[in-house]
Amino acid sequence: MREQTPHPKRVFPTPKTFYRIAATMKPQTIPTRPFTDQRPGTSGLRKKVTVFQQPHYLENFVQSTFNALGGIRGKRLVLGGDGRFFNQQALQTIIRLAVAGGAAGLLIARNGILSTPAASHLIRKYGLDGGFILSASHNPGGPAGDFGIKFNIANGGPAPEKLTEAIYAESLKISAFQIVDIAAVDLERLSLSRILETEIRIIDPVADYADLMAELFDFDLIAGLIADSDFRFLYDAMHAVTGPYAEEIFCRRLGAAPDTLLNCTPKEDFGGGHPDPNLKYARRLVDIMFGPAPPAFGAASDGDGDRNMILGAGFFVTPSDSLAVIAANAHLVKGYRKGLKGVARSMPTSQAIDRVAARLGIDCYETPTGWKFFGNLFDAGRLSICGEESFGTSSDHVREKDGLWAVLFWLNLLAVKKLPVAEIVTRHWRDYGRNFYSRHDYEEIDSTIADRIMEELAQRGPGLIGRRCGRLQLTVADDFSYRDPIDGSLSCNQGLRLLFADQSRIILRRSGTGTSGATLRLYFEKPENDPAAMMSETQTALAELIDLAEELTRLKELTGRREPTVIT
Ligand code: G1P
Ligand code: ZN
Repeated sequence: MREQTPHPKRVFPTPKTFYRIAATMKPQTIPTRPFTDQRPGTSGLRKKVTVFQQPHYLENFVQSTFNALGGIRGKRLVLGGDGRFFNQQALQTIIRLAVAGGAAGLLIARNGILSTPAASHLIRKYGLDGGFILSASHNPGGPAGDFGIKFNIANGGPAPEKLTEAIYAESLKISAFQIVDIAAVDLERLSLSRILETEIRIIDPVADYADLMAELFDFDLIAGLIADSDFRFLYDAMHAVTGPYAEEIFCRRLGAAPDTLLNCTPKEDFGGGHPDPNLKYARRLVDIMFGPAPPAFGAASDGDGDRNMILGAGFFVTPSDSLAVIAANAHLVKGYRKGLKGVARSMPTSQAIDRVAARLGIDCYETPTGWKFFGNLFDAGRLSICGEESFGTSSDHVREKDGLWAVLFWLNLLAVKKLPVAEIVTRHWRDYGRNFYSRHDYEEIDSTIADRIMEELAQRGPGLIGRRCGRLQLTVADDFSYRDPIDGSLSCNQGLRLLFADQSRIILRRSGTGTSGATLRLYFEKPENDPAAMMSETQTALAELIDLAEELTRLKELTGRREPTVIT
C-alpha cells in the first residue's frame, strides 16, 4: 500500500502528555447487513446526514474500506474533517473501528478540523498509509444537510477508482465489523495516548501546512504587498475549515489585519450557508468586490478548503483562466522557479491551459472530472500544476486541490507584477487568446429525466457529425473515456462531448457528488483570438452554443426549468 514519495518523511516531536487508556478491553465483532448504496462518487461517499445516522451505516463503510485495504493492522492514518455536523461523532466511531482493527497509529486533527489539502500534506510528510477525510466539500451541512467520507491513500491523494470500487464491492458483502467500546477520545487538547495497539496523537492541524506554504511562496514579498496601505484584500472562509489556516497564514505570518478575514470561525452548519466559493454562494464577498471602492483582491474557499475563487476589483477570474495564468507565471514564484514538468486539466475545464502548455513546450493531460485522476501523473513526475473548472487548482506539493495555495499564488503574483488582477488576466488573453467559458448546473432533476436527456444526446450526437449549425461545425460527438498513461486503467462514460471545428465545445455530464435527484452540468467553451471580441460579456459570447445545447438536449423543455440553478 505504501508508496515512495520524493517528500522526505519526518517524525513527530516527542509529546508532553502521554496517557494509556484501559488496555484491557477487547474488540467485539458486531454482525451487520450490507447497504447497497455505498459506492463512492466523484469524491468519496456523500449522503444526507440522516443516511449516515442509520445504525451501522458509517461502521459498514469504514470496515469495508479496511477490508479493501487488506486490513488496517499496523497501519497509520490521519483523521479529520471540515467540521460539519456529525463530524465529531463520526470521528469517534472511526477511532473505535481503527483501534479494533489494530491500527498502529492515528494522527487526529485537534477538534477534528482538518482541511483536505492539509490532510494530504500530513499523510505525505509523516509517511502515513492514508487517512479518512470527513467532508461533503461544498455541499450544505447541518442535521438536514450532507455528510461525506473519503479515503486517501499513501501518496496523499484520493483513492483511485480501483480502490473505491473494491470498497464498494466489500460494502455489498460485509457481514460484520470489529469495534471497541471505549469512551470518547478528547480531541480538544494536543496529546499522545495509546489504546490497545493504537497510538493516538492529537495534533495542531495548521502548523505543518503553513510551513509548507512558506516554502512555496515568497512570504516576505507578500507581507510587503499586504503592508502597502494602497492594497486591500478580503478572504472569505465561508464559516468552513480554512478559517484557522487563514488566521495563521494571512494574519500571524503575513501581517494582514483581522478585518481582512470574513466568516473565519468554522461552524457545523456553515452559518446556514452553502460553502461553495462561487458567484452565487459567496454573495457577500462578491457584492463587496463588485461594489463601490472595492478591495484590489478577494478570495474564498469551500467547506473542506480545497476549492478557491479569485476576484479582482469588479472582476471575476474563471477557474480555468486562473489555472492558465498560474501556469504561465509559475516561473515568477519561489517554489516553481525551476519550471513545470507538465500540466493537466479535467476534460470539461477550458483549453486556456492547453495554450500555455503549447507555448511552454510541455505536456498537457486531459483527465476525467475528479482529482483522483491526477495522482498517478504527479507520482510519475509528469505533472507540476493542474486544475478543474470547478474552482480547483493545485500543484505537486500535495495530492489534492488546494484553495489557500491558489490564493497565495495569486497574492505572490500580485506582489511580483504590481498590476491589478483584471489587468493580469486581460493581458494574458491578449497574449495567448481567450477561451470564453461557462458552466450551467441544473440541480435536483428527476433521475429518470436526467437519464433520458443523457441517453438521447449520446444516441443522437454521432449522427450530427459534419453537420453545420450556424457558424459551428460538429467534428466529434462521443462519451469521453480515459486511459491512464501510467497504470493503463480505463475509465469510461466520463461525459458527453460535442466538439466543433473551431475548438468550441459543449459538454454534458451527470454530477457524481449530488445527494438528491440528479444534477446535470452543461459546459460551454469558445476560443476567441480577436482582441476586439475578447471583452464581450461571457453569456453573450457563448449564446450560440447555449442555444444549440438546448436544441440538441431539450434539457429545459424536458425538465420544465426556465434557467440553470447555478451559472459559473
Ligand atoms: C464536482 C466537480 C469536480 C470536482 C468534484 C469534487 O464533481 O465538478 O470537478 O472534482 O466536485 O470537488 P461532480 O459533482 O461534477 O461530479
Ligand atoms: Zn471541497
